[in-house]
Amino acid sequence: MPAATITQAPLSPLDTDITLDQLDRDPYPIYRRLRAETPVLRVKSTGRTLLTKAADTKYVKDNPGLFSSNDPNTPMQRAFRAHTLMRKDGEEHRRERMAMAPAFNPKVIVNTWMPKYREIAGAYLDRLPRGETVDLFPLLAAPYAARGLAILLGIEEATDDQMIRWSQALIDASGNFGFRPEPFARSDAANDEMNALFDSLLDRHRANPNESALSVMINAVDPIPQSQIYANVKIAIGGGINEPRDALCTILYGLLTNPDQLEEVRRNDDWDKAFEEGVRWVAPIQASSRLVTEDTEIRGCLIPKGDTVMTIQASANHDEELFTDGDKFIVYRDSNPHQSFGNGPHFCQGTHVARRAVGQVMLPMLFERFPNIRLPDPAAVQWRGFGFRGPINLPVLLG
Ligand code: HEM
Repeated sequence: MPAATITQAPLSPLDTDITLDQLDRDPYPIYRRLRAETPVLRVKSTGRTLLTKAADTKYVKDNPGLFSSNDPNTPMQRAFRAHTLMRKDGEEHRRERMAMAPAFNPKVIVNTWMPKYREIAGAYLDRLPRGETVDLFPLLAAPYAARGLAILLGIEEATDDQMIRWSQALIDASGNFGFRPEPFARSDAANDEMNALFDSLLDRHRANPNESALSVMINAVDPIPQSQIYANVKIAIGGGINEPRDALCTILYGLLTNPDQLEEVRRNDDWDKAFEEGVRWVAPIQASSRLVTEDTEIRGCLIPKGDTVMTIQASANHDEELFTDGDKFIVYRDSNPHQSFGNGPHFCQGTHVARRAVGQVMLPMLFERFPNIRLPDPAAVQWRGFGFRGPINLPVLLG
């Protein structure tokens, strides 16, 4: 078990072989080896100490005092032109998270947002051509996530294409560890467009408050600063499109390549279980970083103050100590304690929206509308990503 004590333990081993390209193409065989041989490992190409066992990733996220989110060395602050809630700890983080919380209240999700998601799902499914092979990634998964999120955030004037472009620009710039100018140029342009849109919506939200995130934050009795209101909305844009999109494509791949399981899920209406298994199998957010605030030890290795550890929840979700055949998509597992939504104070604020929008709305509607949907060539599906991961195309035959 990990221990938070100061010791004379040696540093963890240093790997100089693993490349970012290998991790981007298929990290899972690498993580399997690391879990067995060196579960605490400094990986030179990432500039971080990788933690690949489930107990360690959970331990780090549950101990924000020792493993801080407040890391000034990441490009995220530059990308968002703001110190966002994801990079804050303690009371500062709590206040900004709570500001947005009314929009994520379970009753609001069920009574306000899900009827909207149902409408969007119906309209976007109507647009799909029957009897043809179509790529559901750009035609359904991405725009569905974008439209629902625009409404939930109170920025429905943004088009799907804008939402998708802004989200990608923020993600690319947040991962721009080489601080190259081009990704920041794109995130700067996206920030300017988002700020202009948000500015133009303030009067409407003041005059006609609703339950959207922007509206509840603007109209709060004791509002957080406007810069942080905008930063919160941008975090949700950066974090609320790619993940449900990738989750939907991953789950569809899992179900369509396992027809027996699909049959059973349909018979029992177990779309929720299929959702949880899909996000376990290939976690949409594969890794998170935390800054070490004092010398500590994990599995007999010194983790020095100032080091950055990377919790690999993708690997935690395949940990042999918790999962049998973790590399296989198995909806009817005995238990599924995955970590795809994180742990601790930064646990995903959109968890219940994503679960319902994908698991309870889109999946059953899609299979009802297209009962004979098929994946003609599973090998044509390409998977990518180290920090974020999922299929980048999903050519299905709709019938
Ligand atoms: C399948 C879909 C999703 C997955 C797998 C996912 C995953 C995650 C994870 C792992 C984190 C924590 C990151 C960390 O610990 O550093 C996170 C944070 C967050 N997510 Fe999600 N997410 C999903 C969908 C969404 C959606 C739809 C929204 C918005 C509607 C959203 C909003 C947020 C926010 C605001 C945070 C920051 C929370 C904080 O720092 O306190 N997420 N998400």
